[in-house]
Amino acid sequence: MFNIIVTESYDAMSSEAYKIVKETLKKESPVLGLAAGNTPVGLYKKLIADHNANGTNYENVKAFALQEYLGVPGEDEHSFRTFMEENLYEGLRIPRENTFVPDGTAEDAEFECAGYDAKLRKYPLDLLVLGIGTNGHIAYNEPGTDFELHTHIAELSEESRAAEAKYFDDDLELVPKRIITMGIASLLSAGKILVLANGEDKADALYDMIKGSKSEDCPASALQDHPNVTVIVTQDAGKRL
Ligand code: PGA
Repeated sequence: MFNIIVTESYDAMSSEAYKIVKETLKKESPVLGLAAGNTPVGLYKKLIADHNANGTNYENVKAFALQEYLGVPGEDEHSFRTFMEENLYEGLRIPRENTFVPDGTAEDAEFECAGYDAKLRKYPLDLLVLGIGTNGHIAYNEPGTDFELHTHIAELSEESRAAEAKYFDDDLELVPKRIITMGIASLLSAGKILVLANGEDKADALYDMIKGSKSEDCPASALQDHPNVTVIVTQDAGKRL
């Protein structure tokens, strides 16, 4: 079931998302799953501004990232750990021990995946904030991914690597080919899911997610099975809905 909110601007999309995240923060020890990428940065800025202005406390929040490049250390400037720290975790002063990102350099990556799932079982996600790829990926579940998978090692599609190149000085060669990602089954275990999208290039993926049949061709269509998904989009992204 999708609750769809169409907004007039990126800022309005971020504000709607902000209200939903703030609701979740009323819980005593909220657990959040949080996407990287350009889309949620406006939301993250609003959360940081609120934290600075109003002292909203994040000491009891647990924050899970959705993925990490295989072979890339957390301290690397291109890691998802660095992205999440710079864009959110540090600004909200979430205690480091409450922030979870898969370790891309773990000696046994399969074991790392299983350990991440164990943490997600221990701290079930109250709210998951997702972006969507132009090819319909959510986290790094690319088209063709089995919906039953939990955290696993995935290959990035060429389309996704090209999209990520913007973070690597536009040098495609530098973009890693493999990634540890939460699987669709891990994502669907969240109590509530928020999907954010802006820009016309997301319109087809959103259409397939909501109006298409459930299919591995569009990983986001797996969300059709979840009882509590709110989709907040700008008009251009939502033009086919
Ligand atoms: P973006 O990425 O927010 O940078 O567009 C979305 C995604 O790939 O999930």
